[in-house]
Amino acid sequence: MKTILPSHTSSLSRLNRMLAGKQYADSRFFILVDENTYNHCLVPLVSHVSHLQEAEFLEVPVGEDCKDLAIAQQLWETLLESGADRDTVLVNLGGGCVSDLGGFVAAGFKRGIGYINIPTTLIGMVDAAIGGKTAVNLGGSKNQVGFFHQPYITCIDPLFLDTLPDEELLGGVFEMLKTFLIGNPEQYQALGDMLLGGTLEVRADMIATCAEIKSAVVKADPKDQGIRHILNLGHTFGHAIESFSHHEGQQPLGHGMAVGVGLVCALYLSVKKLRLATEHLDRYRQVAAKLTQLPQYTLKDTEEILTYMRQDKKNAAGEIRCVLLQDIGAPVIDIAVDENEIRDSLLKIK
Ligand code: GLY
Repeated sequence: MKTILPSHTSSLSRLNRMLAGKQYADSRFFILVDENTYNHCLVPLVSHVSHLQEAEFLEVPVGEDCKDLAIAQQLWETLLESGADRDTVLVNLGGGCVSDLGGFVAAGFKRGIGYINIPTTLIGMVDAAIGGKTAVNLGGSKNQVGFFHQPYITCIDPLFLDTLPDEELLGGVFEMLKTFLIGNPEQYQALGDMLLGGTLEVRADMIATCAEIKSAVVKADPKDQGIRHILNLGHTFGHAIESFSHHEGQQPLGHGMAVGVGLVCALYLSVKKLRLATEHLDRYRQVAAKLTQLPQYTLKDTEEILTYMRQDKKNAAGEIRCVLLQDIGAPVIDIAVDENEIRDSLLKIK
């Protein structure tokens, strides 16, 4: 697994040089796109990466709708009809949904072909496209069927952020804050200062640091059996808050925004249970409030959010477990939290 990080030379040009190597001499490339990346990203990709100019492309629906077994089956059938073989390489050009589905299809086809992730969203660049988690949804629940299957290459080029809607960008900024909270206090401070100062410039070096942190965690625990859980800071709350936000009368939140809100709860409980300094909670709350309107939940809302939290895949022995922080850069996994603590933290978000 190789990650091409943003630097002073174009990441896509470096990808092109890599594809000229012996490993890819017999490869036939298919590019997986959705309607957005077909319209906005395919031309920049092939204009920088001449080795992909002859690639065939496959289009899937935008968003979670593409993470479907029936769509994976159609893609396998198309690959088969096109004569794809074990040297075929699937190039996933898109956000987390495209890379989750494309990785899944690659993992299953002929018992596993290679794939390359080219994330086009900020969340993809700092999280989803790195680490080899692939999945489709089942029975209305996210990521229920999948494989660990590492990409040959993840190529991160901030060029694609130019066409990204603000909401998507903000979601990615929250994932960056999460990554720095677990792994880089200096960059956490710097990004927070920037956001509090009213600047929303997503710096390439910060994206690179996030991708490096994620890659190091994945290397230490590729199958998510222990330390990789630190990447879920804010996510036990975030997933439940995201699901609840789609109820009637609520403001729908994307994944990154919901994680951003969930981080307030995680830091609140970190203060209560692990003696994280209160100033860290206060500062994070200020930063988050600059990026989004923090919700004011009622007691009834907290009961509904709790229903989702009880279903979290990371729970064990009937307990809800969270990642919390002892300090910035010092996460602790598998902390059991009781339901009253969760209610309390949800009521204190704002
Ligand atoms: N997004 C969390 C992980 O890759 O483990």
